[in-house]
Amino acid sequence: MAEGPVLDVMGAMLYKGFLPPSAQRALLDDIRAVERAAPLFDPVTRSGRKMSVRITSAGALGWVSDRRGYRYEPRHPSGVPWPPIPQSLLGIWKELLPDAPPPDSCLINYYGEGARMGLHQDRDEADLTWPILSVSLGDDALFRIGGAARGGRTQSVVLSSGDVLVMQGPARLAWHGIDRIRPGTSRLLKNGGRLNITLRVAGPAGEGAQ
Ligand code: SIN
Ligand code: FE2
Repeated sequence: MAEGPVLDVMGAMLYKGFLPPSAQRALLDDIRAVERAAPLFDPVTRSGRKMSVRITSAGALGWVSDRRGYRYEPRHPSGVPWPPIPQSLLGIWKELLPDAPPPDSCLINYYGEGARMGLHQDRDEADLTWPILSVSLGDDALFRIGGAARGGRTQSVVLSSGDVLVMQGPARLAWHGIDRIRPGTSRLLKNGGRLNITLRVAGPAGEGAQ
């Protein structure tokens, strides 16, 4: 794996260009296999508003949002268990986070043209101390990150295909979101858009980890 520069963005570590193009293509194949077993679906918020990203998951636990709210579930909405987390992703986690337990959840977000994600904290996990690692594939995205307190200063940075972001320590509960994607900036995804793949330890650590 190629190692690009490592940037400190509000305490989160951004590994620019961590995956070379060949590894991005291999990871995309793995993600497409997950999507075949557990198709992308349109999550809605508790109030019934459709989110602009489409999602699916791999691993023991998948993040879902519907009229009952946000939570982790052991099954895709169709009732099938989530497929296993691809080895390629487990390898990235182990390389960058050798001291953390293995992730039990892999959320795949697909951003088509116009999709965005409002500022939020990731706090649906059983233990909020384990790190979060995300990989970007496809079009560039404008990512915004602040501190753990709502409404503080934020910094914006572009996440490009092959970049890996780690949020841990004081940055684990940082507010973050995607302001917009930049269509046409990558040719990795045949139909355009962006995939963000997030690995987390969602359940009680160790339990259900694969
Ligand atoms: C997320 O916070 O769930 C997604 C972040 C991203 O798309 O980079
Ligand atoms: Fe998030």
